[in-house]
Amino acid sequence: MYRSHTCGELRASHIGTEVSLSGWAAKSRDKGFVVWIDLRDRYGLTQLVFDEERSTPELLALARTISRETVIQVKGSVIERASKNDNIATGTIEVLVSELTVLNNAKLPPFTIEDETDGGEDIRMKYRYLDIRRNPIKNNLIFRHKVAMEVRKYLSDQNFIEVETPYLIKSTPEGARDFLVPSRMNEGQFYALPQSPQTFKQLLMVGGMDKYFQIVKCFRDEDLRADRQPEFTQIDCEMAFVEQEDILNIFEGLTRHLLKEINGVDVAEFPRITYDEAMAKYGNDKPDIRFGMEFGELNTVAQHKDFGVFNSAELVVGIAVPGAANYTRKEIDKLIDWVKRPQVGAKGMVYVKCNKDGTYKSSVDKFYDQEDLAKWATATGAQKGDLICVLSGETNKTRAQLSALRMEMAERLGLRKADEFAPLWVIDFPLLELDEETNTYHAMHHPFTSPKPGQIELLDEQPGAVKANAYDLVLNGNEIGGGSIRIHDKETQAIMFKHLGFTPEEAKEQFGFLMDAFQYGAPPHGGIAFGLDRLVAILGGKETIRDFIAFPKNNSGRDVMIDAPATIDNEQLSELNIKLDL
Ligand code: AMO
Repeated sequence: MYRSHTCGELRASHIGTEVSLSGWAAKSRDKGFVVWIDLRDRYGLTQLVFDEERSTPELLALARTISRETVIQVKGSVIERASKNDNIATGTIEVLVSELTVLNNAKLPPFTIEDETDGGEDIRMKYRYLDIRRNPIKNNLIFRHKVAMEVRKYLSDQNFIEVETPYLIKSTPEGARDFLVPSRMNEGQFYALPQSPQTFKQLLMVGGMDKYFQIVKCFRDEDLRADRQPEFTQIDCEMAFVEQEDILNIFEGLTRHLLKEINGVDVAEFPRITYDEAMAKYGNDKPDIRFGMEFGELNTVAQHKDFGVFNSAELVVGIAVPGAANYTRKEIDKLIDWVKRPQVGAKGMVYVKCNKDGTYKSSVDKFYDQEDLAKWATATGAQKGDLICVLSGETNKTRAQLSALRMEMAERLGLRKADEFAPLWVIDFPLLELDEETNTYHAMHHPFTSPKPGQIELLDEQPGAVKANAYDLVLNGNEIGGGSIRIHDKETQAIMFKHLGFTPEEAKEQFGFLMDAFQYGAPPHGGIAFGLDRLVAILGGKETIRDFIAFPKNNSGRDVMIDAPATIDNEQLSELNIKLDL
């Protein structure tokens, strides 16, 4: 038996017990007459002790040779520790070792395996298996497991069943590029890895599995960011015989359940706002509502004066930054530089200081008097002591810029608190989105999303105005999930494909299987998918999903540990009948 207990288990109540433990030598201290080794495993640390008085000279000598990360097994008795350590759970005891076996030697690790490590991101990724020995990463993986267990528990209790769907499939359009897999048995043909199980879960509804879920890998070849990985995990769900309201209720329930079980938080409010409202109030379809700074539109109060910049703008809009009226000229100039950075793209920023004495001082005092500025303060909800920041220009761009500034100011003011949770639904998304480069419309969610009842007729006249039964779940400014009520009849689906620029032949070729299925009694259905990696990261108080994935890819989509992707040899290529022309 390698171990009778784990390294996190022993307490004062075990004093006098004979135990065996196995693990990694985390750290050792040699005081000459006594040697201590911290033994580590997944569960914690236990201090081992060897000394001249109680250990044989051979044992003491062997203990001195144990270097960091050596895998050892010890037998010994639990004794009370002379100097207790309140920082660890086993801090009142130590194990007086009577037998020490080296199970495997270890090379010197390339970085220290401690909570605060000297290893940079690259080296930690290359030796991820060592990184996983560190508490921060290990705890994140355990945390992820707990979240996944709670998800399974909640959904199973709600009568959902988990069904696996295939990974070697045909393209599913979720807006990214596909990862492709060549087929050896079908020369010249390729599978696509699923961007999501979207079509399969709809087919499961036709198959009568009216409450489906799956914790499932999805693959998307898209540019990577802190909250995006090329392979990531969804909590994918679909239900039949439901309306939007049913879905929102069930998944509001899931979110509340997770916040309660995982974070111990009871969410009071679970607001719903429309997409249009989110864009007007926050300039963003995934607003962080943990803090105010809602947009105040200023067109009516700021235009038609002599300030040309505002007069020619489609939108003049501001936010009141709490307590920032005391910003110095230099600090404000820096902020203006910040909004002018290419990543934000504003041309400039107008500001108003709302002084403590009730007066206003603005960068456009030439054009606006105190009465005008008071109206700006009312529109933005500014209080004495606040700084009103105003941007102007084309509506969508200006909103995006002010949204970036709002988030930046919230970050600077410490208003984005990791242990505060504010979920909300954003509903009534547009069905279609205009791609300005190609001047064509594509599905904002995906092509299987149904328009709101009675709006399908609008598709010809005003495609951009059609709203969908589509919704996103937003948590602390992050899109955690998205879904929709689906089209479930062949005719409507054909109309949708036509508007998305598919010829009937192309639609049949790509999605004939789904359209066919719809002819055999497809029930009304809808669903949602949560991004598990994102959800876990946010519940864990972080926004970088990499830290919650055991073996993530880097920003170039590489796994630097196994060195993938890699070239393949000619034999494999010729088996697949693929000729590379590099
Ligand atoms: P959608 O494309 O909105 O919907 O994806 C659902 C959720 O998955 C997460 N997500 C990602 N997480 C990490 N890395 C990525 N590259 C990535 N891409 C998406 C997000 C997102 O909200 N089939 C539909 C769902 C449906 O309609 O039921 C779908 O996949 O948190």
